[in-house]
Amino acid sequence: MNQKKIVLGITGGVAAYKSAELTRLLVKAGYDVHVVMSEAATHFVGTVTFQALSGNIVYTDQWDARRPNNMPHIDLTRGAAAVIVAPASADFIAKVAHGQCDDLLSTLVAARDCPLMIAPAMNRQMWENPPNQRNIAQLKADGVSIFGPGNGEQACGEVGDGRMLEAQDIFDHLEAALQPKVLKGKRVLLTAGPTFERIDAVRGITNTSSGKMGYAIARAAYEAGAEVVLVSGETSLPTPIGARQIDVKSAQQMLTAVEAEVDACDIFIGVAAVADYYVLNPSEQKIKKDAHILTLELAPNPDILAGVSSRPNAPFCVGFAAESENLLEYAEAKRLRKKLPLLVANLVQNAFGADTNEVVLLDDHGETRLHSAPKIDIARKLVAHIARLYPNVKQD
Ligand code: C5P
Repeated sequence: MNQKKIVLGITGGVAAYKSAELTRLLVKAGYDVHVVMSEAATHFVGTVTFQALSGNIVYTDQWDARRPNNMPHIDLTRGAAAVIVAPASADFIAKVAHGQCDDLLSTLVAARDCPLMIAPAMNRQMWENPPNQRNIAQLKADGVSIFGPGNGEQACGEVGDGRMLEAQDIFDHLEAALQPKVLKGKRVLLTAGPTFERIDAVRGITNTSSGKMGYAIARAAYEAGAEVVLVSGETSLPTPIGARQIDVKSAQQMLTAVEAEVDACDIFIGVAAVADYYVLNPSEQKIKKDAHILTLELAPNPDILAGVSSRPNAPFCVGFAAESENLLEYAEAKRLRKKLPLLVANLVQNAFGADTNEVVLLDDHGETRLHSAPKIDIARKLVAHIARLYPNVKQD
């Protein structure tokens, strides 16, 4: 199986233009994309667009003689990781629900030996039409993944359910569906981003943290089948797919949110850059500047991670360590001090804000180095590592 081959089916709908962007996203992520269009789809966007974007021949016709064996409905899906149909029209959904095969795409779907995912797109009334709802229920019962539809303004001017999801959302759902479900049924609680400790009405103390690593781990945990709660300091990132996000500012607020959620979690991952101190008496008003030295009284913040790991029936706890020197030595000492089965040592100081990272995983068995890679790849490997260690540490 080539995990990187995807068949993208496109059926008739104005949302077909979004599939050009979806093709681009898939190709950029390294997928080998083979586009198959229904005849109706070609009235909305031309085959040339998809051929240019995918770099592969686009098929529309069951009787296309370009394949030597004349069986595109069989060999196009062989070796593919999935068939994704976006947009999926009401007519196409009805065909698949009834096993009808009257064009290349519906025949290819019936003959596939890989998962099928669809992103419906239609007018809100068509979406709610009882036969369509019955067909969708049938597809779900048959194990087809349904992405969306979204809600909002439609091309016809009406407002409601039926819009196709945006290309990026479909891409994220597809990637999630393809990941192994190593944390299925597990509940994961994470902290991410910086905390902000108020000095006065406009100033505060914070740490440098984009939140990217924590958000990538939240996404990877969801992709692995976990239920994910993300307690996040202020970042500029969108909520990761599948996560329930609780926004906080200060370490105290982060602690309160964690305490409210921790009993219901199996795995706790502290990725947040929690400020070590808070200001004892923050000023309600902006402190006026004058010629004198300003003294702030700082008190240590609670260690959220150490607090969680020392609870009776503690969840499986994972910590992070960023050090400017003696990284592995300090990190292992931190792991033992905070009683963590797993600690992630950040190898690169300039990982802050970057899209890549390089880390060493420290656990009772030793060190595992994860070489420089996009944060989502590091996050998926970390999740796989947690899934390997978890059963030995926790007995459900
Ligand atoms: O002690 P240090 O701050 O280096 O530890 C880093 C790890 O501990 C991270 O996983 C971080 O999220 C967590 N931590 C915490 N609460 C604090 C300080 C750190 O949860 N007050």
